[in-house]
Amino acid sequence: MDKAKAKARIAELRALIEKANHDYYDLHQPTVGDRDYDMWERELLKLESDFPEFATADSPVRNVAGGLSEGFAKVTHDPPMQSLDKTHAKGELAEFDAFVRKTVEGFTYLVEPKIDGISLSLRYSGGRLVRAATRGNGLVGDDITANASTIATIPKTLPPDAPRELEVRGEAYMTREGFVELNARQEAAGLETFANPRNACAGSLKQLDSRVTAERPLDVVVYNAGGVGCDGFASHSEMIVAFAKWGFPVAPWSKSCKTMDEVFAAIDELQSLRHTFRFEIDGAVIKIDERRFYEVLGATAHGPRWARAYKYAPERAETTVEAITVQVGRTGILTPVAELKPVPLAGSVISRATLHNADQIARQDIRVGDHIWLVKAGDVIPAVDSVIPEKRTGAEKVFVMPTACPVCGGEVARLEGEVATRCVNPACPAQLCRRLEHFASRNALDLKALGGKIADIFVAKGVVKDPLDLFDLDYDALASLNIGDDESPRKFGLNAQNLRKAVSDAKSLPLERWLFAVGIPQVGVTVAKDIAAEHEKFSDLKDSPVLKNVIENDAKKGKERKILAIKVEAAKAVLSFFSSEYGSAFLDRMLSLGIDPLRGARAAVATEGPLVGAGCVLTGTLSRPRGEYAALIEKAGGIVQSAVTSKTKYLIAGANVGATKTEKARALGTEVIDEARLLELLGSTPSGKAEPPAEEAKSAPAAPVQGDLFG
Ligand code: IVH
Repeated sequence: MDKAKAKARIAELRALIEKANHDYYDLHQPTVGDRDYDMWERELLKLESDFPEFATADSPVRNVAGGLSEGFAKVTHDPPMQSLDKTHAKGELAEFDAFVRKTVEGFTYLVEPKIDGISLSLRYSGGRLVRAATRGNGLVGDDITANASTIATIPKTLPPDAPRELEVRGEAYMTREGFVELNARQEAAGLETFANPRNACAGSLKQLDSRVTAERPLDVVVYNAGGVGCDGFASHSEMIVAFAKWGFPVAPWSKSCKTMDEVFAAIDELQSLRHTFRFEIDGAVIKIDERRFYEVLGATAHGPRWARAYKYAPERAETTVEAITVQVGRTGILTPVAELKPVPLAGSVISRATLHNADQIARQDIRVGDHIWLVKAGDVIPAVDSVIPEKRTGAEKVFVMPTACPVCGGEVARLEGEVATRCVNPACPAQLCRRLEHFASRNALDLKALGGKIADIFVAKGVVKDPLDLFDLDYDALASLNIGDDESPRKFGLNAQNLRKAVSDAKSLPLERWLFAVGIPQVGVTVAKDIAAEHEKFSDLKDSPVLKNVIENDAKKGKERKILAIKVEAAKAVLSFFSSEYGSAFLDRMLSLGIDPLRGARAAVATEGPLVGAGCVLTGTLSRPRGEYAALIEKAGGIVQSAVTSKTKYLIAGANVGATKTEKARALGTEVIDEARLLELLGSTPSGKAEPPAEEAKSAPAAPVQGDLFG
């Protein structure tokens, strides 16, 4: 390449990388795939070394990306928080090994997961967490202490055997499961969704209001020494064991290796395990275990020479966008969907991917006819990673969001503060279909005879104009409803009687199931349970003082609000539903049908078992999801409560439960027990022995348990 061309290409690559950095780090909305980004970076590095006259100090490859945000105090890192040199090829790891062998001898390698999150520094003084900071540009980061303090698994105080002055470094991440749930909530509320768990984590940690962070499913893993308190360890692995002993979550997997063959095998093993972790990994980190070699090995501008990152090829597939269709959801949100040429990816064949909203399509510049890279966000949701612009022919068509509802033809609107476009016609049949389907779904009223297709038919044929019509139907007539088409008619038949029975049984389902069934934005299964726990009956939700209190306290007190698990946005959404014309008519109709579901009218609680009649409250960080324990407790006859009352027999306290909480419980006559004791108690369940926690759950950093209620 001649000089002029090199100069132009360098400028082009810098612009591309800088824009990608801005989209990724500042907007938390990536616009290019990892692979392309890495390729640009390598090409730029190579050109800058071939043409040093064009290499400048401000080049994006000479600066650690990962911007600083406005609104946060700045923290200087001592020593700087470095990055890692990375490779995609095992051959390059062999070069790394050759360099290490040339320099030192008698060492061991350690292979760890490379967690794809946000790197974090945690500083303790006098045994207390005093500061949490992001890496920022490596030298200076953002002070995010208030936000990080909301992460349940970050120890706020250290045990007496830990150094009083300590800094540890690691990675904050959003759990895969939490990411999927959060995006569903965001989408239902008409808000921006996140491209992947890493971006969702970044966005959550950079909130100016830490109450928002508190509601996000974040966790951490620590994997590195900070500048203070970590000097005494001969090896990295001993240090990690000590971190774990001091209460820090550490990686659930690592492998000690003597030879490069063992390193390669460990890298492959880790890759095969990557989907079993609660966090996403994008590679492996190979470290020298013996810390005495670190100084002599030194560092490059990028990172230490005692460690190297090996990045896995992203799991992605190339396909084309054949069309972009628009779906209308149960709250009227218009969601553009890419109809794809079917392609296998990570175990399934994908033919559709949500494009979320018009802004997202514009940002990624996705056009009908485009070749794209498809990935699975959070390992589950098919998503367009990036467009392959080189493959454009010029025939691709830019997508335009419809200006009328594609189903009912009614008006659409984009509400202030939302990215979603909504059909505002409450009678829109598409909305009704999805509301009906949701109403009948398993976690709602569990009407098995009524799935998505039948919901569509009921609405199309005018059988149902509102979900509550199910309680007023002529089921005998319904048996002869044609659910096929004119050419091959098929009767609803016996399903009509099944549905009649399920509908009749649904009348006595508990409040939480009904509240979820209504389909209020922000009110998922867990939130519905938390809200139900604070109310006697369905009709109490209208004008609920508890919900009003949640909102008022939020405005007044900020962090103290955590006394109740109810989320502010959800409280607002419920109150707004019942004050709406539709919501208040819905409640009136339920009451006139004689339905006013009660809290805790659970049919599932066993009448015998080791915990019969025992009130149980789960609190703190447990190694299994709260729902799982709740189900085991109920199976054993126990009653899961959300708050400790005089009727609570056991408070099951996970990690990080404050002494005040346990003392308060004891004062009410409650026995405070740990998970092991609970499993012991459950072990004598007649309906089956409780299984010990799964391998991963045992060693993985524990899940923060939502909902610590003290009523
Ligand atoms: S050790 C000097 N160990 O990957 C930095 N880093 O691309 C030493 N990362 O900046 C870091 N998992 O944010 C280390 N097991 C692990 C890691 C890890 C993820 C991150 C870290 C680092 C980045 C480099």
